[in-house]
Amino acid sequence: MDDFDDKIKSLQTKYKLTGQSTSSYLEGLLLSNYVGYWDYIQLETLLSLQRPKTDFPDEQIFITYHQITELYFKLCLHELNQIRCNGVDISADGEVKGSFEELDPDFFKVRLKRLITYFDCLIDSFSVMIDGMEQSQFTKFRMALLPASGFQSYQYRCIEIASTDLVQLVSHTEREKLYPYIPQEEVFDLLYWKKGAKDDKTGKKTYTLEQFEKKYGAELLAFSKQCTSNNLWQKFQTLDKESKVDEELKSLLKQYDQKVNFQWPMMHLKSAAKYLTQKKGAQGTGGTNWKKYLPPRFQKRLFYPDLYSKEELENWGG
Ligand code: HEM
Repeated sequence: MDDFDDKIKSLQTKYKLTGQSTSSYLEGLLLSNYVGYWDYIQLETLLSLQRPKTDFPDEQIFITYHQITELYFKLCLHELNQIRCNGVDISADGEVKGSFEELDPDFFKVRLKRLITYFDCLIDSFSVMIDGMEQSQFTKFRMALLPASGFQSYQYRCIEIASTDLVQLVSHTEREKLYPYIPQEEVFDLLYWKKGAKDDKTGKKTYTLEQFEKKYGAELLAFSKQCTSNNLWQKFQTLDKESKVDEELKSLLKQYDQKVNFQWPMMHLKSAAKYLTQKKGAQGTGGTNWKKYLPPRFQKRLFYPDLYSKEELENWGG
């Protein structure tokens, strides 16, 4: 009973602070329905979002698996943002948990483990794409999806930008040409994916890239500016000396790096190799030269080169 009285008192304090009546809220509680699982997770809306563009049954698998991946990307961004905000969480009643001052290395590790788990799920489940669709159906329904491509995944680009310094996302052949300091706008224009979606000789952008930039270019540039001094690598730099040599933390960063930049891209590449090698010269729906663009051994992209030995760097993506 004491507990009950305490709760009523707390409610009264809460509503009094905003000049509202506890009694009215209690009446609302009395009249409201119980929460159903279906309402809580918005099941009907969720299940209404898979709308294939053709009648080939396997397109349902393709569209649903992309959506599942985007939901995992959302979870990844949630963790990346928690690290970037030092774990500051402003709860509904305005209470600030954590501190803007410094990042707790243990908090950092737990969030990195979550990021690794999400990418493990994506890597392990990619066989849904590789083995889970009829090749003959895929080659047909993909033609109805032109010029859309996973290349245009806004969240995937945000994950990369929030994970490291922007310069690490510049194609490695271009990176060497960079001056010690160049404005963020110019680095942004040299990102590996922008290069990969341009004609090598003429420099003309694919229509897929043009459309993506039109939709998300400004937002991505703004986000990359926000992340200049506030990405995972920069957060690691803010830790004390002891944490920076903590082997577990360094190993977690490397594992995350390998999942995002090697293991996931390899699974993804397998699906392209399976479905796009049927017809000589077949391009992705986004129009890149995918055989050159997708393999990690050509991209040589990684978030945290300073954590690797010279030998590891040389063999990266092999
Ligand atoms: C049969 C399945 C798939 C095939 C054949 C495939 C093919 C391709 C190709 C050829 C590209 C290069 C861009 C282009 O020319 O279109 C690409 C890029 C991309 N795709 Fe897929 N894809 C598949 C499934 C997926 C799935 C399930 C996702 C999850 C969201 C995804 C996300 C991406 C991303 C993020 C990129 C950009 C990669 C980068 O820039 O390094 N793809 N895909």
